[in-house]
Amino acid sequence: MALEKAIEILRYADRQNKCVIGFDAFDLESAKWIIDTAEEEQIPVIMMIYPGDKSITPLSTFGAMVRDLAQQVKVPVGLMLDHGPNFETCMEAVRGGFTSMMIDTSHLDFEENVRQTAEVVKACHCLGIDVEGELGHVGIASREDDYKNTDNFTRVDKAVEFIERTGVDILAISIGTAHGSYISAPQLDLTRLEQINHATDIPLVLHGGTGVPEEQLRAAFARGINKLNYATGYKLKLYEVAKTLMEQGEIRPRMSDLMLAMAEPMRDFIRSIMRLAWPAS
Ligand code: 13P
Repeated sequence: MALEKAIEILRYADRQNKCVIGFDAFDLESAKWIIDTAEEEQIPVIMMIYPGDKSITPLSTFGAMVRDLAQQVKVPVGLMLDHGPNFETCMEAVRGGFTSMMIDTSHLDFEENVRQTAEVVKACHCLGIDVEGELGHVGIASREDDYKNTDNFTRVDKAVEFIERTGVDILAISIGTAHGSYISAPQLDLTRLEQINHATDIPLVLHGGTGVPEEQLRAAFARGINKLNYATGYKLKLYEVAKTLMEQGEIRPRMSDLMLAMAEPMRDFIRSIMRLAWPAS
Protein backbone atom coordinates (compact mmCIF):
# COMPACT_ATOMS: atom_id res chain seq x y z
CA MET A 1 0.00 0.00 0.00
CA ALA A 2 1.01 3.62 -0.28
CA LEU A 3 2.59 5.41 2.67
CA GLU A 4 0.23 6.12 5.57
CA LYS A 5 0.38 9.31 7.64
CA ALA A 6 1.88 8.74 11.09
CA ILE A 7 -1.14 10.32 12.76
CA GLU A 8 -3.46 7.74 11.14
CA ILE A 9 -1.18 4.88 12.19
CA LEU A 10 -1.08 6.23 15.75
CA ARG A 11 -4.84 6.73 15.97
CA TYR A 12 -5.23 3.12 14.90
CA ALA A 13 -2.69 2.05 17.53
CA ASP A 14 -4.58 4.03 20.15
CA ARG A 15 -7.86 2.29 19.28
CA GLN A 16 -6.06 -1.06 19.64
CA ASN A 17 -4.37 0.03 22.93
CA LYS A 18 -1.02 -0.68 21.31
CA CYS A 19 2.17 1.13 20.46
CA VAL A 20 4.00 1.56 17.16
CA ILE A 21 7.78 1.65 16.92
CA GLY A 22 9.32 4.64 15.20
CA PHE A 23 12.64 3.26 13.97
CA ASP A 24 15.51 5.49 12.89
CA ALA A 25 17.06 3.95 9.77
CA PHE A 26 19.66 5.49 7.50
CA ASP A 27 20.12 3.41 4.38
CA LEU A 28 18.39 0.85 2.18
CA GLU A 29 19.22 -2.24 4.24
CA SER A 30 18.42 -0.71 7.61
CA ALA A 31 15.04 0.44 6.21
CA LYS A 32 14.19 -2.70 4.24
CA TRP A 33 14.76 -5.11 7.14
CA ILE A 34 12.33 -3.09 9.27
CA ILE A 35 9.64 -2.89 6.58
CA ASP A 36 10.01 -6.59 5.67
CA THR A 37 9.61 -7.55 9.32
CA ALA A 38 6.58 -5.27 9.72
CA GLU A 39 4.98 -6.98 6.73
CA GLU A 40 5.79 -10.45 8.00
CA GLU A 41 4.29 -9.58 11.41
CA GLN A 42 1.49 -7.38 10.03
CA ILE A 43 2.46 -4.72 12.56
CA PRO A 44 2.37 -1.06 11.37
CA VAL A 45 5.64 0.84 11.56
CA ILE A 46 6.93 4.40 11.23
CA MET A 47 10.20 4.85 9.36
CA MET A 48 12.30 7.81 10.41
CA ILE A 49 15.73 9.27 9.74
CA TYR A 50 17.82 11.71 11.78
CA PRO A 51 18.76 14.87 9.83
CA GLY A 52 22.39 14.10 10.75
CA ASP A 53 22.20 10.88 8.73
CA LYS A 54 21.39 12.71 5.49
CA SER A 55 25.13 12.67 4.81
CA ILE A 56 24.69 8.88 4.43
CA THR A 57 21.36 9.03 2.60
CA PRO A 58 19.96 12.40 1.41
CA LEU A 59 16.44 13.06 2.71
CA SER A 60 14.98 12.97 -0.80
CA THR A 61 16.63 9.58 -1.44
CA PHE A 62 15.41 8.19 1.88
CA GLY A 63 11.91 9.49 1.13
CA ALA A 64 11.81 7.91 -2.33
CA MET A 65 13.22 4.64 -1.01
CA VAL A 66 10.75 4.25 1.86
CA ARG A 67 7.85 5.28 -0.41
CA ASP A 68 8.82 2.56 -2.89
CA LEU A 69 9.32 -0.09 -0.18
CA ALA A 70 5.93 0.83 1.34
CA GLN A 71 4.24 0.31 -2.02
CA GLN A 72 5.49 -3.28 -2.06
CA VAL A 73 3.83 -4.29 1.23
CA LYS A 74 0.30 -4.33 2.65
CA VAL A 75 1.09 -3.21 6.19
CA PRO A 76 0.81 0.57 6.93
CA VAL A 77 4.21 2.29 6.79
CA GLY A 78 4.75 5.89 7.92
CA LEU A 79 7.58 8.20 6.86
CA MET A 80 8.68 10.91 9.27
CA LEU A 81 11.67 13.19 9.67
CA ASP A 82 12.94 12.66 13.22
CA HIS A 83 14.07 15.69 15.26
CA GLY A 84 13.81 18.29 12.52
CA PRO A 85 15.91 21.08 14.08
CA ASN A 86 14.38 24.02 12.24
CA PHE A 87 11.88 25.16 9.58
CA GLU A 88 14.39 24.86 6.71
CA THR A 89 15.27 21.21 7.39
CA CYS A 90 11.59 20.33 7.79
CA MET A 91 10.87 21.91 4.39
CA GLU A 92 13.75 19.94 2.87
CA ALA A 93 12.01 16.77 4.10
CA VAL A 94 8.70 18.03 2.67
CA ARG A 95 10.37 18.42 -0.72
CA GLY A 96 11.75 14.89 -0.26
CA GLY A 97 8.21 13.49 -0.02
CA PHE A 98 8.00 12.95 3.75
CA THR A 99 4.36 12.57 4.78
CA SER A 100 4.89 13.25 8.51
CA MET A 101 7.22 15.61 10.33
CA MET A 102 8.84 16.11 13.69
CA ILE A 103 10.03 19.56 14.66
CA ASP A 104 12.08 19.50 17.84
CA THR A 105 12.78 22.86 19.40
CA SER A 106 12.24 21.53 22.91
CA HIS A 107 15.66 22.78 24.06
CA LEU A 108 14.42 26.36 23.62
CA ASP A 109 12.27 28.26 26.11
CA PHE A 110 8.53 27.58 26.03
CA GLU A 111 7.53 30.64 23.98
CA GLU A 112 10.20 30.05 21.33
CA ASN A 113 9.35 26.33 21.19
CA VAL A 114 5.70 27.30 20.61
CA ARG A 115 6.62 29.86 17.94
CA GLN A 116 8.92 27.61 15.88
CA THR A 117 6.70 24.53 16.22
CA ALA A 118 3.59 26.50 15.20
CA GLU A 119 5.41 27.83 12.13
CA VAL A 120 6.20 24.29 10.94
CA VAL A 121 2.68 23.07 11.77
CA LYS A 122 1.14 25.90 9.73
CA ALA A 123 3.22 25.11 6.64
CA CYS A 124 2.88 21.33 6.97
CA HIS A 125 -0.88 21.38 7.54
CA CYS A 126 -1.30 23.35 4.30
CA LEU A 127 0.33 20.39 2.58
CA GLY A 128 -1.60 17.69 4.46
CA ILE A 129 1.44 16.69 6.53
CA ASP A 130 1.01 15.83 10.19
CA VAL A 131 3.47 17.13 12.79
CA GLU A 132 5.02 15.86 16.01
CA GLY A 133 6.36 18.44 18.45
CA GLU A 134 8.23 17.97 21.70
CA LEU A 135 7.65 19.57 25.06
CA GLY A 136 9.89 18.96 28.07
CA HIS A 137 13.33 18.14 26.80
CA VAL A 138 14.38 14.51 26.18
CA GLY A 139 18.14 14.79 26.45
CA ILE A 140 21.16 12.53 26.28
CA ALA A 141 21.41 9.24 28.23
CA SER A 142 25.09 9.75 29.01
CA ARG A 143 24.06 12.76 31.16
CA GLU A 144 22.14 11.45 34.16
CA ASP A 145 20.67 14.85 34.94
CA ASP A 146 18.89 14.82 31.57
CA TYR A 147 16.64 11.92 32.57
CA LYS A 148 16.59 12.22 36.36
CA ASN A 149 16.00 15.94 36.83
CA THR A 150 12.24 16.52 36.78
CA ASP A 151 12.81 20.14 35.67
CA ASN A 152 13.31 18.60 32.21
CA PHE A 153 10.02 16.70 32.37
CA THR A 154 6.80 17.75 30.63
CA ARG A 155 4.35 19.73 32.74
CA VAL A 156 0.72 18.71 32.34
CA ASP A 157 -0.67 22.26 32.09
CA LYS A 158 2.04 23.28 29.63
CA ALA A 159 1.33 20.22 27.44
CA VAL A 160 -2.29 21.30 27.13
CA GLU A 161 -1.27 24.88 26.28
CA PHE A 162 1.42 23.72 23.83
CA ILE A 163 -1.01 21.55 21.87
CA GLU A 164 -3.61 24.32 21.77
CA ARG A 165 -1.20 27.04 20.63
CA THR A 166 0.88 25.04 18.13
CA GLY A 167 -1.75 22.74 16.62
CA VAL A 168 0.60 19.73 16.75
CA ASP A 169 -0.98 16.38 15.89
CA ILE A 170 1.40 14.26 17.98
CA LEU A 171 3.31 15.13 21.16
CA ALA A 172 6.67 13.81 22.37
CA ILE A 173 6.92 14.08 26.14
CA SER A 174 9.68 13.90 28.70
CA ILE A 175 8.96 11.52 31.58
CA GLY A 176 12.40 10.10 32.41
CA THR A 177 13.95 8.85 29.18
CA ALA A 178 16.91 10.10 27.13
CA HIS A 179 18.63 9.28 23.85
CA GLY A 180 21.50 6.79 23.71
CA SER A 181 22.91 4.33 26.26
CA TYR A 182 21.84 5.04 29.85
CA ILE A 183 24.56 5.30 32.49
CA SER A 184 22.04 4.24 35.19
CA ALA A 185 18.60 2.63 35.09
CA PRO A 186 15.88 5.06 33.96
CA GLN A 187 12.73 5.33 36.05
CA LEU A 188 9.71 6.53 34.09
CA ASP A 189 7.30 8.96 35.76
CA LEU A 190 4.18 6.95 34.97
CA THR A 191 1.92 9.12 37.12
CA ARG A 192 2.88 12.15 35.07
CA LEU A 193 2.24 10.17 31.88
CA GLU A 194 -1.23 9.24 33.11
CA GLN A 195 -1.98 12.86 33.93
CA ILE A 196 -0.77 14.11 30.53
CA ASN A 197 -2.73 11.39 28.74
CA HIS A 198 -5.85 12.30 30.71
CA ALA A 199 -5.51 16.03 30.00
CA THR A 200 -4.75 15.72 26.25
CA ASP A 201 -6.32 13.92 23.33
CA ILE A 202 -3.53 13.46 20.79
CA PRO A 203 -1.09 10.51 20.47
CA LEU A 204 1.89 10.65 22.84
CA VAL A 205 5.44 9.64 21.96
CA LEU A 206 8.25 8.29 24.12
CA HIS A 207 11.73 9.04 22.80
CA GLY A 208 14.85 7.24 24.02
CA GLY A 209 13.48 3.70 23.74
CA THR A 210 16.85 1.94 23.89
CA GLY A 211 17.63 0.46 27.29
CA VAL A 212 14.32 1.18 29.04
CA PRO A 213 13.36 -1.96 31.02
CA GLU A 214 10.59 -3.89 29.26
CA GLU A 215 8.15 -3.79 32.18
CA GLN A 216 8.40 0.02 32.27
CA LEU A 217 7.78 0.18 28.52
CA ARG A 218 4.70 -2.05 28.83
CA ALA A 219 3.41 0.18 31.65
CA ALA A 220 3.96 3.26 29.48
CA PHE A 221 2.11 1.69 26.53
CA ALA A 222 -0.79 0.85 28.84
CA ARG A 223 -0.90 4.48 30.03
CA GLY A 224 -1.09 6.17 26.63
CA ILE A 225 2.23 6.00 24.78
CA ASN A 226 1.35 5.19 21.15
CA LYS A 227 4.80 5.62 19.58
CA LEU A 228 8.15 4.50 20.92
CA ASN A 229 11.23 5.94 19.20
CA TYR A 230 14.07 3.49 18.86
CA ALA A 231 17.48 4.23 17.35
CA THR A 232 20.64 3.51 19.36
CA GLY A 233 19.80 -0.14 20.06
CA TYR A 234 19.14 -0.74 16.37
CA LYS A 235 22.37 0.87 15.25
CA LEU A 236 24.39 -1.00 17.90
CA LYS A 237 22.79 -4.26 16.82
CA LEU A 238 23.63 -3.65 13.15
CA TYR A 239 27.27 -3.20 14.09
CA GLU A 240 27.32 -6.18 16.47
CA VAL A 241 25.73 -8.53 13.92
CA ALA A 242 28.12 -7.44 11.16
CA LYS A 243 31.13 -7.85 13.47
CA THR A 244 30.06 -11.30 14.69
CA LEU A 245 29.43 -12.56 11.17
CA MET A 246 32.82 -11.29 9.98
CA GLU A 247 34.63 -12.79 12.97
CA GLN A 248 32.95 -16.17 12.43
CA GLY A 249 34.51 -16.18 8.99
CA GLU A 250 31.74 -18.32 7.52
CA ILE A 251 30.68 -15.91 4.81
CA ARG A 252 32.63 -14.86 1.77
CA PRO A 253 34.41 -11.55 2.40
CA ARG A 254 32.09 -9.60 0.14
CA MET A 255 29.92 -6.71 1.29
CA SER A 256 26.88 -8.12 -0.53
CA ASP A 257 27.28 -11.50 1.22
CA LEU A 258 27.54 -9.76 4.58
CA MET A 259 24.32 -7.83 3.90
CA LEU A 260 22.48 -11.01 2.95
CA ALA A 261 23.70 -12.83 6.06
CA MET A 262 22.69 -9.92 8.32
CA ALA A 263 19.04 -10.02 7.25
CA GLU A 264 17.88 -12.88 9.46
CA PRO A 265 19.48 -11.86 12.79
CA MET A 266 18.42 -8.24 12.20
CA ARG A 267 14.84 -9.23 11.47
CA ASP A 268 14.78 -11.38 14.66
CA PHE A 269 15.89 -8.33 16.63
CA ILE A 270 13.36 -5.99 15.00
CA ARG A 271 10.58 -8.54 15.52
CA SER A 272 11.23 -8.75 19.27
CA ILE A 273 10.89 -4.97 19.68
CA MET A 274 7.80 -4.77 17.50
CA ARG A 275 6.08 -7.59 19.41
CA LEU A 276 6.83 -5.93 22.75
CA ALA A 277 4.95 -2.81 21.66
CA TRP A 278 2.30 -4.57 19.54
CA PRO A 279 1.59 -7.91 21.22
CA ALA A 280 -0.75 -10.37 19.49
CA SER A 281 -4.26 -9.87 20.82
P1 13P B 1 17.36 5.88 21.40
O1 13P B 1 18.49 6.15 20.47
O2 13P B 1 17.73 6.02 22.83
O3 13P B 1 16.70 4.56 21.11
O4 13P B 1 16.27 7.02 21.14
C1 13P B 1 15.78 7.18 19.86
C2 13P B 1 14.91 8.35 19.71
O5 13P B 1 14.28 8.80 20.62
C3 13P B 1 14.85 8.94 18.37
O6 13P B 1 14.00 10.01 18.28
